[in-house]
Amino acid sequence: MARLERLGAELAARYGYRPIETPMFEQTAVFERGIGEVTDVVEKELFRIAPRSEDGESWALRPEPTAGIVRAYVQHGMQTWPQPVKLTMTGPMFRYDRPQAGRYRQFSQFDVEAIGDAGPAIDAEIIELAARFYRDAGLAAIDLQLNSIGDATCRPAYLEGLRAYYRSKIDGLPSVERARLERSPLRLLDSKEPAMEAVNADAPRITDFLCTACAAHFAGVRAHLDAVGVPYRLEPRLVRGLDYYTRTAFEVYPRGAAGQQSAIGGGGRYDGLVELLGGRPTPGIGFGLGLDRTLLALEAAGAAETPEMHALAVVVGADPAATADRLRVATELRASGLAARADLANRKLGRQLEAAAKEGAHFAVILGDELADGQVQLRDLQAGTQQVVPAADLVRHLTRAGDSHRHG
Ligand code: HAM
Repeated sequence: MARLERLGAELAARYGYRPIETPMFEQTAVFERGIGEVTDVVEKELFRIAPRSEDGESWALRPEPTAGIVRAYVQHGMQTWPQPVKLTMTGPMFRYDRPQAGRYRQFSQFDVEAIGDAGPAIDAEIIELAARFYRDAGLAAIDLQLNSIGDATCRPAYLEGLRAYYRSKIDGLPSVERARLERSPLRLLDSKEPAMEAVNADAPRITDFLCTACAAHFAGVRAHLDAVGVPYRLEPRLVRGLDYYTRTAFEVYPRGAAGQQSAIGGGGRYDGLVELLGGRPTPGIGFGLGLDRTLLALEAAGAAETPEMHALAVVVGADPAATADRLRVATELRASGLAARADLANRKLGRQLEAAAKEGAHFAVILGDELADGQVQLRDLQAGTQQVVPAADLVRHLTRAGDSHRHG
């Protein structure tokens, strides 16, 4: 996880995104207005914080970072900065749900947002950044799905078409979907209900309804993606689960997997969100990549790396009570940049060595009588060899031995 977090931060910096930290909780209205009231995330998955006082304020843990980042953009006058403002954040998100494989109540996202650029070139740049993240993480086989979900001009006609279609199928709809049909028919397309799969297979496609401007924008996104050589698959029923999206929408799956549960990342354009949260009309686009699910996909592909550990040296001693000597030597090794710990338990040398071996330490530095002559025993626990070295040369010996370990 730490490796993926570092990778995201490095990539974002290389693409010119600056880090932002928003609070882990916001006024509930930020999420209700931003993400939309008729969404799973707000209806079912919001972790609401019980109010403490009569001040009437309502707070919730962040289920995603975009609404909070856009709130900060408006509140802190970032509209006066040179546009687009490119921001990145990695951190924990919270969604109340039944925990299951790949679906957690606390999970981590690598997020980027570019606010103030209408695209379409930046759309392709952001999608390319997402694709590069997975490639650099070691996940070669991804399925990048792309769609345009139109805007306020063309979406109403599409929604009407969709409502009419679902009304004609009303008897086959699960009750939760029936209740949402009139207010938020897009959510039905995005439904996790198994019964909806067959119904949705014949639903009208948004791409048949796009207005001229949205169609031109979508063509521009595809042309730019082709120019930078990012493979993608058009998926006309991809709508995303949050209400703020306009035009470009994309999701990433591990290749071969399907279904809602397994999206390892997603994003899109949200040209109405800044205005919705109180700012001037300003376009924006971003993505959130799920780090927990990326890790699961890497494990499934056999590509998860075990973290590279430093060769650990444990400083042990013949005199159990001489903890000050052991602590001093370990402190010196650490000050020289080596990984070391002292055995500070008042126990026999044999037990100290046993503990070091159990821990998988590479070296034991043994302090004995020869310390009076400025010498220590250096035991290579993995090779099973031991030599006497001057204490003053210990750092050099350990560094050389550690290097030859690493390189075989
Ligand atoms: P999202 O699709 O809701 O989008 O979440 C992005 C990613 O977070 C998902 O693809 C998934 O990998 C991961 N994720 C979501 N819920 C869970 C969960 N319960 N457990 C584990 N992983 C999960 C957003 O959040 C948008 N803010 C993305 C965005 C940024 N759009 C524009 N800018």
